[in-house]
Amino acid sequence: MSDLRQEANSLDREDELRAKRKEFVLDDTVYLDGNSLGALPANVPGRVADVIARQWGELRIRSWDESGWWTAPERIGDRVAPLIGAAPGQVVVGDSTSVNVFKALVGAVRLARGEVSGAASGEVVGGGGHPDEGRDEIIVDATTFPTDGYIARSAARLTGCRITPLAPAEVPAALSPRTAAVLLNHADYRTGRLHDLPGLTAAVHAVGALAVWDLCHTAGALPVGVDAHGVDLAVGCTYKYLNGGPGSPAYLYVREEHQARFDSPLPGWTSHAEPFGMHPEFEAARGATRGRVGTPDILSMLALEAALDVWDGVSVDAVRAKSLALTDFFLRCVEAYVPEGRVESLTPGAHAERGSQVALRCEGAGDVMKSLIERGVVGDFRPPDVLRFGFTPLYVSFADAERAARVLAETLDA
Ligand SMILES: Cc1ncc(COP(=O)(O)O)c(C=O)c1O
Repeated sequence: MSDLRQEANSLDREDELRAKRKEFVLDDTVYLDGNSLGALPANVPGRVADVIARQWGELRIRSWDESGWWTAPERIGDRVAPLIGAAPGQVVVGDSTSVNVFKALVGAVRLARGEVSGAASGEVVGGGGHPDEGRDEIIVDATTFPTDGYIARSAARLTGCRITPLAPAEVPAALSPRTAAVLLNHADYRTGRLHDLPGLTAAVHAVGALAVWDLCHTAGALPVGVDAHGVDLAVGCTYKYLNGGPGSPAYLYVREEHQARFDSPLPGWTSHAEPFGMHPEFEAARGATRGRVGTPDILSMLALEAALDVWDGVSVDAVRAKSLALTDFFLRCVEAYVPEGRVESLTPGAHAERGSQVALRCEGAGDVMKSLIERGVVGDFRPPDVLRFGFTPLYVSFADAERAARVLAETLDA
């Protein structure tokens, strides 16, 4: 057995998270695509079957109350909260990340300008304070997953802002008293680069603007610390490292100090202070509920709730430590096995700049990934030439990392 294989086995034996793997439905495949769709936690099918057969099939409409359907968005939000470093009452689950980016960004511009409608502030009419209309710029991460950029442009049109796309490192120098809000990704979806959330948030605050973070590629992979670092608003999906399932609902974090003035651009009946009052006038609910819109997607939401059970007793610090050890080890195996010059790592070597994935630039990456998948190693391909390998510490082993690198070398050799 090669030295690296032996080392993988001994790292797996010492791994404090190793028992978690049994809580997932996995097979012989090396699954390195949890940064796109997390694996299925083993308790989810039974729970979803109960939701369908008993809660829906037998209790029917009574389940909105008796099975806790109505309050699921806030209840499950409070389960996501500790994973992103938020105290309870600030996270609500629902809608897609794209929709939550819209709510967060328009809400952030309104907050930065001091524009609050009467309905949102709880005042009878008019409301409003002293709008700071001088703030007419939204800065958006130019390297972002495209949906955030599309939504940011629309949010800019609707709020009368200009849009400035910039790489995160260029943001501090570009900030000015005209900046209203900045939308950034905690980790780059292509390269896996981790951005400096505390430093960038502080820079945004220094000019009186608000920071909105997309946590899709970090929640469940590393400590985020939204409360500790003063993040204003944040969004993220739950189908990657949180294993909520295909299309599981996203979440919206609104910092407690902003909640009373958070003026959602999508005020639906379920974010009304009295949803069953059926009032013609909107009056916003208090707290995280203000981020809701319409009827929650209960089947997906309760699948997510069951999926979150795997986090019981898990420390996010331990997850981060294993994630870094896994990506370090994978990079070492790639260097040892893959002939020089065939791949180039786009993922930063420095731990402080690395998320939980490794991105390798490789000629013919699309075909290479197809053969890797045929050989039982599942990652993904991002055009034009990037192989992505996501490392989910709850179920990926060091033996998986070694095998993936070995199969990659064989594939490139073939
Ligand atoms: C950083 C980032 N933001 C947003 C999305 C898309 O979100 P949704 O499809 O839930 O709207 C993704 C999807 O992978 C993503 O990686």
